[in-house]
Amino acid sequence: MLDNNGFDVWAKEYEKTVQKDSNGYPFKGYYDVLDLMYGLIEQRPKNQILDIGVGTGILTNRLYEDGAQICGIDFSKKMLQIAQNKMPEGKFIQWDFNLGLPPEFGPEKFNYIISSYAFHHLSNSKKISLIDESKALLDKTGKIIIGDVAFETEEGLLKCKKESKSKWDEDEIYIIADEMAQAIKKHGLAVNYTQVSSCAGVLEIHQLHEA
Ligand SMILES: C[S@@+](CC[C@H](N)C(=O)[O-])C[C@H]1O[C@@H](n2cnc3c(N)ncnc32)[C@H](O)[C@@H]1O
Repeated sequence: MLDNNGFDVWAKEYEKTVQKDSNGYPFKGYYDVLDLMYGLIEQRPKNQILDIGVGTGILTNRLYEDGAQICGIDFSKKMLQIAQNKMPEGKFIQWDFNLGLPPEFGPEKFNYIISSYAFHHLSNSKKISLIDESKALLDKTGKIIIGDVAFETEEGLLKCKKESKSKWDEDEIYIIADEMAQAIKKHGLAVNYTQVSSCAGVLEIHQLHEA
């Protein structure tokens, strides 16, 4: 698994790599995942959006151009520099999300908390605790939208692992949607999962409202 220095080295070439590799594992369906996530975000003036593991801001920049206020967290200084150059009015925080969310978040509420291709850097229990922590920063109708290398079931993961042979990355911890949905529901949240490609999908998580 890359540390922040590894991502700093990758930052300049990151977008080229994704483009070149978007036909196979791990990035197969990358642009479709981002398009689906984008489509789940209702266009409202001044959407407040937090992006966890924002990287160079490929998705957030689209939202920024639509007028959203962007806050991005990432542990790679170089990734953040690229994102900040694209989005001068965005707020970017260098932070390791293995430690949860940064302490500077106060009472501000986000309409959307999004994350693309970053949750696989967290253990399954940390994925759930980060979602739980994020819940507190959402406004009443807010949603958490996570796109990543993901599979509906463990069988799907094993099939991809077999087909990917030596390309398979043993260090990354991919989402198995049916298992994760069960854990998320225990935190009073509703989940909808869409498989987008043979190795990627999107989780849409929202709060349950009493009638
Ligand atoms: C594969 S890139 C995805 C970037 C972007 N969200 C996208 O969709 O293109 C993963 C990003 O997560 C960041 N990242 C990985 N582990 C992290 C951690 N523990 N804390 C904060 N950021 C992390 C990396 O620096 C990198 O920018």
